[in-house]
Amino acid sequence: MVIKTDFLIIGSGIAGLSLALKAAALGTVAIITKKEQAESNTNYAQGGVAAVISPDDSFAFHIEDTLKAGAGLCHRDAVELLVHDGPERVRELIEWGVEFTYRQDSKKNVLDLGREGGHSHNRIVHARDLTGRIVEQSLLQAIKQQRNIRIFEQHVAIDLITEHHLDQKPADNYVPLHCWGAYVFDEPQGIIVQFLARATVLATGGCGQIYLHTTNPQIATGDGIAMAYRAGAKIANLEFMQFHPTTLYHPRANSFLISEAVRGFGGILKTQAGIPFMKKYHPMGELAPRDIVARAIDAELKKSGNDCVYLDITHKNSEEIKTHFPHIYENCLNYNIDITSQPIPVVPAAHYMCGGVITDLHGKTTIHNLYACGEVSCTGVHGANRLASNSLLEAVVFAYQVSDEIARQINKPIEPLIPSIPQWNDEGTFNHEEWILLSHDKEEVQRLMWDYVGIVRSNLRLKRALRRINLISREIENFYKKTTVTSAIIELRNLVLVAKLIVNCALYRKESRGLHFTTDYPEANDAQWRKDTVIFQKKGKLIFLNETAIDEK
Ligand code: FAD
Ligand code: SIN
Repeated sequence: MVIKTDFLIIGSGIAGLSLALKAAALGTVAIITKKEQAESNTNYAQGGVAAVISPDDSFAFHIEDTLKAGAGLCHRDAVELLVHDGPERVRELIEWGVEFTYRQDSKKNVLDLGREGGHSHNRIVHARDLTGRIVEQSLLQAIKQQRNIRIFEQHVAIDLITEHHLDQKPADNYVPLHCWGAYVFDEPQGIIVQFLARATVLATGGCGQIYLHTTNPQIATGDGIAMAYRAGAKIANLEFMQFHPTTLYHPRANSFLISEAVRGFGGILKTQAGIPFMKKYHPMGELAPRDIVARAIDAELKKSGNDCVYLDITHKNSEEIKTHFPHIYENCLNYNIDITSQPIPVVPAAHYMCGGVITDLHGKTTIHNLYACGEVSCTGVHGANRLASNSLLEAVVFAYQVSDEIARQINKPIEPLIPSIPQWNDEGTFNHEEWILLSHDKEEVQRLMWDYVGIVRSNLRLKRALRRINLISREIENFYKKTTVTSAIIELRNLVLVAKLIVNCALYRKESRGLHFTTDYPEANDAQWRKDTVIFQKKGKLIFLNETAIDEK
């Protein structure tokens, strides 16, 4: 089956939906999304959207804070674009129906601005502590009014259609130049559909599920990075996985996030003995950049042998706590923790991938007609560590940039014409009953990544992880080739591939910077390593830009 559309958007989080609302004015839009339409990282965002709104704040301050957090790897032009465009994109979200929280200021109703780690000023626009859910619902509502947009739920993109898939295969050393769409698994019908489009956009979000403990929902398996890598696109900075310092420590809580806004509101991190410790690690204390807070907690846990530290907000007015953080309050209460009178047990968990598919300032990847925006992309904004609440902002700013670019392209003749693309070939595959073996593989990868590729790394641990992940990866590739596709195998194949790429990038960077800390090279080395780690794949080999290839087999 073939579905033709002007624009194919893979993913229905803030990046995909905000882009679709713009692109609908230019042509037909198909959004494919692998679960229900709202299921995304976006839906779980709590803190908010960073933007310069307050008269006390300035673009220069927001730029400086972002660059400082990024530890020398941010691209200044991308950061400037992000920050300057921020207020306009927030206004647009409000126009699309997002109801942010307001407060009274000298009889005027103004946006309530929260504070988070690494920010020198209050600039987090939020909808209490449910920002993501409100944004997601509002955008989906706005999309319902658009006749040009169709959402295909339970549709999982498997691979991008590039020159590799043509009937007549190009020469072996050919680098793919064009993307014509994607092969997509229509889960309810159990068939593979070709979605063909003039422009294809990856808005597939992050990859937190690669780790055993993560704030990310099940959908975050790194599919976009994996598809782009297999297609030959350039990818950068995968060693910079951000760990959120504070998720609820409880056997049933599934790493539920305790927003950084709680620390912005005055929450204090304490040891089990009730002793505050953050000032030992950074002058900004609880509001230091995230990498520093996560490492400080890790160090305290290793020193004490305890399972968690505590976030204490009990000194604040309990009614104000409930008003600002109703979702966190209710959720903790479900686990018999009353945050107005008890400190919250917290531990770090994998949260945000700062690297991703390389794009320019218009969201263009290194493959023609393939764009990326949101968490899947590496625009240069986050460098070695993302500043809190800059990612929802990045998603809307760069979705806008993509829409601007496709508006420029739309009047050009379609070039090259979409060639004849072969149907998905599943000859020789069979339904496999041994899924149980692979489900163990998933958990093993998650555990390896958690134990050996976490907040503090070393060559020994990384090499051990890589040896095992390479083995599992081979098993899964063999299994994938022999079986009919299922969502589970598509995701597992992607998850293992991205895990492998993260470990390779982490081994490659021989210094500590931002989120990448290794005991073998504990200092930053600006002379040699103040540069992005850029990788791509050619003929099954992982290549670091300007370096020799690593045989992946
Ligand atoms: P997502 O919102 O993750 O959407 C990805 C979409 O792609 C989903 O619809 C998914 O189903 C779909 N998809 C993926 N793979 C496929 C495939 N193969 N086929 C089809 N569809 C696919 N950032 C902030 O700036 N402020 C915050 O306060 C904040 N809080 C957060 C709290 C939590 C708990 C989490 C997890 C993240 C938070 N973040 C926050 C980060 C932020 O939410 C994400 O970076 C952002 O929402 C990513 O948006 P996105 O549109 O790129 O991806
Ligand atoms: C949070 O609310 O702490 C999450 C903010 C973010 O990840 O940007």
